[in-house]
Amino acid sequence: MVRSTGWLGRVGVVAAAAMALLAAAGCDCGSCSDAPKAASAAPARETGSGLPATAAPLAALAAGVLAAEAQDGGPVVIGHYGSMTGSQATFGQSTSNGIRLAIKEYNAAGGFKGRKIELKEYDTRGDAKEASLAVTRLVKSDKVTAVLGEVASSLSMAAAPICQEAGVPMISPSSTNPQVTAKGDMIFRVCFIDPFQGLVCAKFAHQNLKAKKAAVLVDQAQAYSTGLRDQFKRNFEKLGGQVVAEQSYNGGDQDFTAQLTNIRAAGVDVIFIPGYYTDVGNIALQARKLGVTTPLLGGDGWDSEELPKIAGKAIQGCYYSNHYAPDQPDSRVQEFIKKYQSEFGGATPDGLAALGYDAAKILFDAMARAKSLSGKDLRDALAGTKEFKGVTGTISIDEKRNAKKAAVVVKMDGEPLGPKFVATISPE
Ligand code: PHE
Repeated sequence: MVRSTGWLGRVGVVAAAAMALLAAAGCDCGSCSDAPKAASAAPARETGSGLPATAAPLAALAAGVLAAEAQDGGPVVIGHYGSMTGSQATFGQSTSNGIRLAIKEYNAAGGFKGRKIELKEYDTRGDAKEASLAVTRLVKSDKVTAVLGEVASSLSMAAAPICQEAGVPMISPSSTNPQVTAKGDMIFRVCFIDPFQGLVCAKFAHQNLKAKKAAVLVDQAQAYSTGLRDQFKRNFEKLGGQVVAEQSYNGGDQDFTAQLTNIRAAGVDVIFIPGYYTDVGNIALQARKLGVTTPLLGGDGWDSEELPKIAGKAIQGCYYSNHYAPDQPDSRVQEFIKKYQSEFGGATPDGLAALGYDAAKILFDAMARAKSLSGKDLRDALAGTKEFKGVTGTISIDEKRNAKKAAVVVKMDGEPLGPKFVATISPE
């Protein structure tokens, strides 16, 4: 309750900011696509706030004054874009909570050389176009020092080129598709990538579930889903298993009867579903209704408190790989949970919250080591991140701007039903 009240307040602020921006760009409908065009058509970053081109010299002057003021102790503004509403709403909400907790602690400890961190945040609604719009606003109008986000790989891939071109470092807390950081040398992540996650799932299916035959059910519009499916398949077959049924859906579909009927006919030992939680919950419900009792296995996209709410008993006994488990016997994890619970009315943080927290803290760590807060200097400092002790593991950034770290496998179990820690699997 406390959480959702907080949420409405925040979304309201974001909406108001967006409206103001649209108004400045000469648009009053609140949703038309003139605003991004106006912003991106501006010749230089100084004029990017939607001001007409004739205002450029004045705007440049104002920006210069603002920049000088910022160095004299104004806030350091950082951006976050995430899905606060829609079928992936808990992704953005949890990430935001994690980021806000990290900022609060950092500011309480003095901030960046006495300057406070200020957060600008926009809702992507889980939509790639909205993600691009949000990031355009962050880098052109809000002139943020760095961008945090997105969760879903397809959205990070849509927005990353905007950060790259603007020379603003972007850190995805949680997008696992390899292509995300391949968008350019300004793009980082603090999570593992799907070639590893696919191996973790394949190994778990083969060794722990003793599965010989698997079916896969994939969201064909999500780079995350198809990419993780490929990696699971490759590794499962390498281990001697067989993928004997391949089915697909589109996020938001309501009826999975045809796919599940085909999978039922194939007679498999495990069904691998690398999807996002809302669809996974619906799939689990319908599978059990059709008499499919096979264990379901998935990746990090399952991670949401909504999953057991949607699926109930249908998801009990199923497994997924993730970045963190709240019942992990690890003092850093337990300390984080305590702080999070006291901040957010007793809510247990999910993996996204932990990753959002780590991403923000890694940014602050790099800021302290950077020669300046220019995009390039901050980029260099981020690239030099070594052995950062995060909640989601020890994080070192490699030459491809990815983090090599362990994964956990959790089982949906217990009362109340939720993810329970089963194993940690480290990259060799
Ligand atoms: N890894 C997912 C993606 O790349 C996003 C995700 C991460 C979802 C962690 C839930 C938890 O799309």
